[in-house]
Amino acid sequence: MSQPIGFFDSGLGGLSVLHEAMLRLPQENFLFFADEDHVPYGTKPPANVKKYVGEAFDFLLSQEVKAIVVACNTATSVAVADMRRRYEIPIIGMEPAAKKALELNGQKRVLVAATPITVAGEKLQHLMERVDIEHLVDLLALPRLVKFAERGEFTSPQVANYLKAELAPFNLEEYSALVLGCTHFNYFKDTLKELLPTEVKFVDGNEGTVRELKRRLAEIDALCKEGESAPQRQVRYFYSGREVSAADELRRLEDLLARLGEMRGL
Ligand code: DGL
Repeated sequence: MSQPIGFFDSGLGGLSVLHEAMLRLPQENFLFFADEDHVPYGTKPPANVKKYVGEAFDFLLSQEVKAIVVACNTATSVAVADMRRRYEIPIIGMEPAAKKALELNGQKRVLVAATPITVAGEKLQHLMERVDIEHLVDLLALPRLVKFAERGEFTSPQVANYLKAELAPFNLEEYSALVLGCTHFNYFKDTLKELLPTEVKFVDGNEGTVRELKRRLAEIDALCKEGESAPQRQVRYFYSGREVSAADELRRLEDLLARLGEMRGL
């Protein structure tokens, strides 16, 4: 059995990155760690999040993963630099894809939605200084979407009303893109689409993250060759270190992945 690639998120948002990786790296085995005991991260003190990320890494490393994808913008913002100092293993982090969004148009405004920690973090501030030369980017924290996503509530009137109220201060006609700067936000594209002008495009970092993962593994010759994970590649799921094995819970994860498949094209 070839070594798996570890994916880590505070919760179930990271499945959107795993979904992309499963499509693009069909030979690989995966281990997905959702820190269900501590989700949400985005509204907690960064020191607590650092501790949780450290524990998640300890667990993933005990499972002998060959790389870790931090499929969480919030954990990346708070802890990825420390983790890279501590461990040699390839660590691929995520940050809101503001650069990609600005490159799409370059004239109209861009709205970056993320968690409160990511919005307030130094990492995003530095990114803005580098890429938002024309001051076209606005930031918006949407913490309640994480809670809605964790309960599997994506299209209810409560979700729509929350988003409507949060988007109300912006003249959306001035925008070319909405950056999904939290992996949990990918579940809401259909609800968001109803509220946005048709010209506003969704931008996320999933594809870029998986491309970077592939590049880093190729660099150290650690990509699986064809047939190496035969007869079937393995994907295992853990909630804060406990393996998910109950059939109904595995079905819930399958359903979430199916929803993300539907959202992918929007
Ligand atoms: N999914 C996470 C992100 O990408 C954070 C959600 C949370 O726990 O607040 O930022």
